[in-house]
Amino acid sequence: MALINSYAIWNNKGGVGKSTITFHIASRYAEKFQNKKVLVIDMYPQGNSSMMLLGGGQVGERKLLEYCTVQPIPKTVVGYLSEVICSGARAPLPPPMDFVTQIVQVNSKMPENLYLLCGDGNLEPMVPAINQAAAAPALTPNSDPWLWVHTILREFINKISQEDRQADWMVFVDTNPSFSIYTEIAISSVSRLIVPVNADDSSRVATRAMFTLLHGTNPPHPIYGSWTYATRGVQAHLDVPKIHIVVGNRLTQYQGPAQAFRALSDATADTLYNAYKANPERFTPRNQSINSIEEFRDTYSVPLRDFNTAGVVAAHLGQPLSKMVQGHHKVYNQNVLVVKQRITDCEDALDQIIQRL
Ligand SMILES: Nc1ncnc2c1ncn2[C@@H]1O[C@H](COP(=O)(O)OP(=O)(O)OP(=O)(O)O)[C@@H](O)[C@H]1O
Ligand SMILES: [Mg+2]
Repeated sequence: MALINSYAIWNNKGGVGKSTITFHIASRYAEKFQNKKVLVIDMYPQGNSSMMLLGGGQVGERKLLEYCTVQPIPKTVVGYLSEVICSGARAPLPPPMDFVTQIVQVNSKMPENLYLLCGDGNLEPMVPAINQAAAAPALTPNSDPWLWVHTILREFINKISQEDRQADWMVFVDTNPSFSIYTEIAISSVSRLIVPVNADDSSRVATRAMFTLLHGTNPPHPIYGSWTYATRGVQAHLDVPKIHIVVGNRLTQYQGPAQAFRALSDATADTLYNAYKANPERFTPRNQSINSIEEFRDTYSVPLRDFNTAGVVAAHLGQPLSKMVQGHHKVYNQNVLVVKQRITDCEDALDQIIQRL
């Protein structure tokens, strides 16, 4: 059948909620759309979203370790990338589903239609080998090792969705903030970006940096300009994903409740709106025209203001929110109270994102 869409949850700023959002959106999307299949690809070497999906806490950590230590070919992103890169550009691709886990087989709380290409700590030590493969000289005029390496996961996603005769696929990719080659591969695998931001000034700085990484600067940097992902991507006609929504995460922590309805701080909204006005094609197209910063906010940003206790505890326990019950839950030897209203608030907040996908 077909690919519904593919999203990377990315911001080149750490700790803004990428993995937690990936976990919640993917599990909730799968519960809401049971006739679709949902794939999470974890391109964060510490495997945080994999850990949450595989059972959370220490259970998830142990499962993740089991996955990464299978020899010789782990059922993880590293297993797949290694197989493809070692076989070479012209070799037939290994069956992608051999590397994918139906999560319910490991964590019974998860919906049956949720799948995982598991994260792997060896992604980081693998970087020099991936760089080497991407920098290899082109042996024929039509070959481009850089493009081949950067589209390995895009091909993986295409193959899975095209070969499945039963269901359409929705894909979410968790990413690492650092822009190393595996993050470039993660970004290049999708058509759309979900960008979580916090309401502080560093999010504005990160937002600017995000555009530089994706699209370069004008003029390009005099020394490094020709080496960047942005320049190489243009040369190779690589499709760079478009920003679909910006998720304002944990805003109530930084702003009073009156401000909490705004998904973006004024500074970040301003930076994004200016970027939109200069290059609207860097954002996914919408039906209505956007003529003010308020219209931009309404269209491209979503607040995640009610994500707190319920969302964090659910992720720690490796449970979708629908399976959370009111009461005390043990998190790192502490009893944390989660009340029903917070669970509902959190579900509503996620639904606001999901209805925009
Ligand atoms: N809305 C929220 N409310 C409260 N805590 C949150 C919220 N979102 C994330 N957190 C917490 O903030 C921490 C960082 O979140 P997370 O690991 O998802 O961020 P990240 O962007 O994936 O980080 P990294 O850049 O390290 O990958 C976690 O402890 C998570 O539980
Ligand atoms: Mg993370």
